Amino acid sequence: MNLSTPTAPFTDTKLVRSSLYATADRIEQRTSALHRAKITGADAAATIAALAAAAHPNPSRVADIGCGRGTTTIRLAHQYPAATIVAVDQSPALLAVTGNRLRAQRREVTLVAADFHHLRGVLAHVDVAAAAFCLYHSRHPEKALAEIGACLAPGAHLIAATKSADSYINIDRVIAASGLDREAVSRPSLYEAFHTSNAEAALAAAGFILRRRVDQQHTFRFTDLAHLAEYAVTSPKYRLPSKLTADPAALAAALRARLSDEPITAASTVTYLVATRP
Ligand SMILES: C[S@@+](CC[C@H](N)C(=O)[O-])C[C@H]1O[C@@H](n2cnc3c(N)ncnc32)[C@H](O)[C@@H]1O
Repeated sequence: MNLSTPTAPFTDTKLVRSSLYATADRIEQRTSALHRAKITGADAAATIAALAAAAHPNPSRVADIGCGRGTTTIRLAHQYPAATIVAVDQSPALLAVTGNRLRAQRREVTLVAADFHHLRGVLAHVDVAAAAFCLYHSRHPEKALAEIGACLAPGAHLIAATKSADSYINIDRVIAASGLDREAVSRPSLYEAFHTSNAEAALAAAGFILRRRVDQQHTFRFTDLAHLAEYAVTSPKYRLPSKLTADPAALAAALRARLSDEPITAASTVTYLVATRP
């Protein structure tokens, strides 16, 4: 995987549209490595769906903004069989994956290819919206949130999910300790723009009223350096030689040559905010 290395990779529009999400490959590899490592923490899509159900038992129109591969979209579609489901993402490739997954379950979905900073005229009258693990790709999440708010019906609910800025810092420590990228720990968080500690302020700036907050600790145990490398090659945070990021086996070998091959534990706080549009 050949990722370029700008200062703030998760808010680099070009990188987000190309290497990160132009195809589903990187996100699938990353999700697979993380799922196999996960030892504590509730399923995110299930948590979002449960919070949505508590906020609104019977919405007519439900939108999943920044839907990615549609994991949350599918949950919401199951939960609300009578609702119109709208999946929004700027990546046509990921929208296609979401469409295929929903169609495989015989569920209709409206696919909308759009930037969440420009939703007016594209999306309207939404009763429940989710924006999961996507707003940290915005340099101005409060602007994206205001745009989402404009698409919601008055009194409608948004469930926004994000991670702590220190997520997976133990992995940064391993990469730094290997000497392959000594700055891995000191570099800004990938989640800097919208994380556990600044997400509430962004929602308030966008005019939302916070109703509920849930913080969950997720922990991950990577069985060995090969497992860690599968995750690390998908992270644009690290500045590694491209021959290593192109091949997890090559990165694993380079790590093994420098470190003892032991299990590595990492953590992330996942925050869910339920807010309403006045
Ligand atoms: C980490 S994925 C999260 C996917 C999904 N919500 C989930 O929880 O699995 C981030 C998604 O946000 C999308 N995204 C990033 N910037 C966006 C923007 N400006 N407008 C719309 N979608 C965007 C990406 O294409 C990607 O699908």
